[in-house]
Amino acid sequence: MELHKSITRENLRHLMTVFYEKAMEDEELGPFFINELGDDIKDEDWVHHIDLLADFWLSELLGESTYYGNFIGAHIKLPRIKKEIFATWLKLFSTAADDVYVPELAITFKKKGVRLSKEFMRNRLV
Ligand code: HEM
Repeated sequence: MELHKSITRENLRHLMTVFYEKAMEDEELGPFFINELGDDIKDEDWVHHIDLLADFWLSELLGESTYYGNFIGAHIKLPRIKKEIFATWLKLFSTAADDVYVPELAITFKKKGVRLSKEFMRNRLV
């Protein structure tokens, strides 16, 4: 598939789908998502989650007022997330960004991913 040169809600949904398909397959990272949302990415809970995350990234990267979720609350209820699992998150997220966007845009996602996952680790989530 051709790499995207701009960010749209539609291609953000695609990024999220590519990322979560890989995340679900990972032995350590997968169960966090499967326990909350099930193992079928076509299910209603997943569709909702992917929509929510597309809104989250629209607001993070384009400054659109699309995300009014509960970022902290969603993670605080999860079992303890080890540092290594964040590394896996980041690796899979970065690979997904490279698969979906041109390099100039993929780097923006990767930088933001690094920043947000570091912020997570600082704020108790490990
Ligand atoms: C290993 C690290 C992570 C794990 C295991 C994880 C897991 C999860 C799970 C299971 C949910 C769904 C909770 C639910 O709907 O009940 C969720 C929600 C979410 N995650 Fe993560 N997450 C991780 C890292 C991150 C990072 C680094 C970001 C930001 C770039 C992020 C952004 C979000 C957002 C925006 C939501 C939606 C929160 C809401 O309900 O408004 N997550 N996460």
